[in-house]
Amino acid sequence: MTRANNVRPWWEAGVVYQIYPRSFQDSDGDGIGDLEGVRQRLDHIVALGADAIWLSPIFPSPMADFGYDVADYCNIDPMFGDLDHFDALLSEAHARGLKLLLDFVPNHTSDQHPWFIESRASRDNPKRDWYFWRDPASGGGPPNNWMSDMGGSAWEFDKRTGQYYLHAFLKEQADLNWRNPEVRKAMDDVLHFWFARGVDGFRIDVLWHCIKAEGLPDNPPNPDYYRELGEKFLVLQHNSANRPEIHAIAANFRTIADQYGDRLLVGEICLPVPALMEYYGNDQAPGVHLPFNFQLLDAPWDAAALAALITQYEAALPPGGWPNWVMGSHDAPRIAGRLGDAQARVAAMLLLTLRGTPTLYQGDELGIGLVRIPQDRIRDPQDLRQPGLGLGRDGARTPMAWDSSPHGGFSTAEPWLPLHEDWERRNVAAQASDANSMLSLYRRLMALRRGSPALSIGTKSAIKGEDGVLVYQRKHENECLLVALNLTSEPRDLPLPSSVRQCLASTIANRRFDGTLLPDEGVVLQLEEY
Ligand code: GLC
Ligand code: MG
Repeated sequence: MTRANNVRPWWEAGVVYQIYPRSFQDSDGDGIGDLEGVRQRLDHIVALGADAIWLSPIFPSPMADFGYDVADYCNIDPMFGDLDHFDALLSEAHARGLKLLLDFVPNHTSDQHPWFIESRASRDNPKRDWYFWRDPASGGGPPNNWMSDMGGSAWEFDKRTGQYYLHAFLKEQADLNWRNPEVRKAMDDVLHFWFARGVDGFRIDVLWHCIKAEGLPDNPPNPDYYRELGEKFLVLQHNSANRPEIHAIAANFRTIADQYGDRLLVGEICLPVPALMEYYGNDQAPGVHLPFNFQLLDAPWDAAALAALITQYEAALPPGGWPNWVMGSHDAPRIAGRLGDAQARVAAMLLLTLRGTPTLYQGDELGIGLVRIPQDRIRDPQDLRQPGLGLGRDGARTPMAWDSSPHGGFSTAEPWLPLHEDWERRNVAAQASDANSMLSLYRRLMALRRGSPALSIGTKSAIKGEDGVLVYQRKHENECLLVALNLTSEPRDLPLPSSVRQCLASTIANRRFDGTLLPDEGVVLQLEEY
């Protein structure tokens, strides 16, 4: 984590844009987005001002979990195109100066992956030990008390051989045994395959799950369990995830990535901050470059609480560890759905002015809000298997709206999920020509960030959260900026240092800042050089 020659890697100043390929752009009229569609829409990402795109999984898959159940790690699902489409997308992205990250899913494969099909064929199959097969408990039933993240036991009984196999997620997603050296070798080969093809990095799916406690002992019961959370919280993931051995696995991924130069590894890790920090690794064994920081996804939208959260996160970073921030994803409710339209604008300013690499999720730049999915159109297995708990992720996965043509220009056919209700107004074309739109705000902020070392790589002063207003400074060399975010829907006076020179951005277009923050207003002010 100490930097060799003081050269900053591209991703420190960069902004990552997450594409959910099923819902970005359909090019072949099947109502489902594809790689050719992404290629056709690259200009949107350039105009927005992102530096990298991360594609959620595009590999052959039965789609039980919409691609997070991979049946072949080194190919493209025909629904999305083929390797030629992929190469065309990659080279056009590179030609536009965009990096491209793929989604690596090492914890589990599809139950249709040839490895699992072999593994389940017989107890003495050479691939039997690639997965977790166990006899029923002595009194019958699953071998231990581990719960699936999608509800129910994490074990599925397979009649053919009379044993259970482990799945931390759906039963169609069988967990790989990362203590088996052949599994490690096979997955290393996957990384080499894509790096050699030119991809710039990976987001690593559920990294903290990859290795389990030796002997698979029961998990301790969760003292805080209550029914509303869903049964997956019945036990703590003490033995089934976040084991110390995971860090050697992450370090090995990093060694592979480093062989290819300036590549990026982002780890999906849903753990409290102290445990999260371990995934940066250390100088001897660096881990992933960016362990995803998901705290803003469910933080209380309160200035004092956010100030404390940001301060604690920064303080916990290991030396040389670069921060990162996430406000939305294909798994989380939409920002504007959570905070409302006006505060979603303030959230955009927060995401793009905090110190660290932001990840922006497709559609949030339009301010898509809460999308209610009619019962008969629910597709998310998490929602279908645990109905009524409000766990549905479809609302964040609805198609992009590009213009006011049928289906928002997303497809010539009925899309696999419905569009947001106000798509005829809330689409890229309409917002591009409206200086006051969410899209214009994102473009302004990203352009400001790109031109400002203080914002992209600068230091951050202590952050204050008082009276509903969050205030911090960003500095680099002579450049000094002050960010003030009004998290309330009332005006707030902003006690200003005398050194204020001008207002570089407000969440409200064409606004002349006069010392009072309007309701729901955020500003970036330029201070006198020093
Ligand atoms: C990650 C993905 C999520 C998926 C799960 C299982 O959390 O983001 O969509 O369901 O892993 O692969
Ligand atoms: Mg298609």
